[in-house]
Amino acid sequence: MSLFPVDPVTPPATPAALRELIENRRSVRRFTAEAVPDDVVRDCLELAVLAPNSCNLQPWSFQVIRDPALLARLHPICMSQNAAKAPLIIAVLARPDTWKQACQNIIDYWPEPEVPARIRNFYNKTAPFQYNQGPFGLLGLFKRQLLRVAAWRKPLMRAPNSRAQMRIWAVKSTALAAQNLMLAFQSHGYATCPMEGFDEVRLRKTLDIPREALPIMLLAVGRQDAKGVYNPRLRFPLEQHVTWL
Ligand SMILES: Cc1cc2nc3c(=O)[nH]c(=O)nc-3n(C[C@H](O)[C@H](O)[C@H](O)COP(=O)(O)O)c2cc1C
Repeated sequence: MSLFPVDPVTPPATPAALRELIENRRSVRRFTAEAVPDDVVRDCLELAVLAPNSCNLQPWSFQVIRDPALLARLHPICMSQNAAKAPLIIAVLARPDTWKQACQNIIDYWPEPEVPARIRNFYNKTAPFQYNQGPFGLLGLFKRQLLRVAAWRKPLMRAPNSRAQMRIWAVKSTALAAQNLMLAFQSHGYATCPMEGFDEVRLRKTLDIPREALPIMLLAVGRQDAKGVYNPRLRFPLEQHVTWL
């Protein structure tokens, strides 16, 4: 993979190809028993983590669940819904708790021999100040008060400055990764269904999800079976959602 792959002259995908991929993705609720090969899963995860994400801190993690016994335990936890009978489920977790390690990772994994000074400075000083909310979020509270005064004279970023805002912060980036993941599976000929219909308490226990992590969705993956799509595509008119300024 090139370090700077963007070529603005020749876009890598034609608009028609991208439209076809996106249009063909549907939420599928019935899958065949065919297993999804690990190399396909790995390829899709590699594309998932190419999603844009806040400050490149990559606040996500994924649990790839292939074990039939564990999948069987998940089914009732997912309200016994059909989609959760898939041969593969990926738990997509937002991680508001990994920013500190991620700041260090940026320095450790920097893809050039020298880490530029501005990068070191940002990840050693600016980012830790921005994302550290302190014990019980007290530093965040202090920063919010400080900002009220400091932002009087000039525009300043107001968030994330609380533990709740950190959760939103992590969910934004992780949702983008989840969409990449779905489209990647689609490109391999596998269907998906994102699921938020699950008992979070039981899910946390069953998958041993870290306390600070947020299971934003479970992604069911497999080959589409007959009658896998329940309803025709429906979207509201664009005009309802778009304001042109
Ligand atoms: C965050 C999220 C949670 C969802 N949870 C479920 C779910 O638990 N069960 C389900 O069958 N579909 C679920 N869906 C799928 C939606 O119902 C589906 O995306 C929507 O109806 C539009 O249909 P389409 O994906 O085929 O375009 C979820 C989708 C999202 C984005």
